[in-house]
Amino acid sequence: MSAQLDLVPRYRRMTAADIDAVIAIEGAIYPYPWTRGNFSDALAAGYHCWMVVCGGESVGYVVVLVAAGEAHLLNLSVAGPWQRRGLGRELLNYVLKLARDTGAGKILLEVRPSNRAAIALYSSAGFAEIALRRGYYPAGSGREDAIVLQLDLD
Ligand SMILES: CC(C)(COP(=O)(O)OP(=O)(O)OC[C@H]1O[C@@H](n2cnc3c(N)ncnc32)[C@H](O)[C@@H]1OP(=O)(O)O)[C@@H](O)C(=O)NCCC(=O)NCCS
Repeated sequence: MSAQLDLVPRYRRMTAADIDAVIAIEGAIYPYPWTRGNFSDALAAGYHCWMVVCGGESVGYVVVLVAAGEAHLLNLSVAGPWQRRGLGRELLNYVLKLARDTGAGKILLEVRPSNRAAIALYSSAGFAEIALRRGYYPAGSGREDAIVLQLDLD
């Protein structure tokens, strides 16, 4: 674990009781946050939804769908005050282990080209661009493309 964090992050499954805390983080860090319904749907669908907790405080979360031997990282978030302390990389490593443990051969995700922090994180973990989805995301000036990144897990 990163020496930047004084506290050891702990992981536990997200439950419906976490959604208020998740929505508060989500609304603060994304211009177009997931809704309460997005998270409750992900829980109801049985996606892999995990919280990361430091010193009793919810500081991040991930949502991963594994189907047909592929993992899709749908959400990876670190609360604003906890960013740049190694948690994003820690959380991504947790997701890669989870995906391998569930038998996925590869993991994919979409990211906004403007999200330089996330792209730097994923690139440093070995993800490579495999496609561009035009106008995938809402954006202030219309729509923004999505870069599709993939990492082979075999
Ligand atoms: C992307 C995100 C998860 C990174 O989490 P974090 O805890 O700040 O990241 P870390 O401290 O573990 O840093 C890991 C790497 O990410 C990159 N990074 C993180 N923040 C960055 C920033 N502001 N600018 C550039 N690179 C950044 C760096 O490559 C960094 O490695 P380094 O410290 O060796 O330079 C976090 O910024 C976040 O939650 N952002 C909002 C939600 C989001 O965009 N999620 C991804 C959607 S696809």
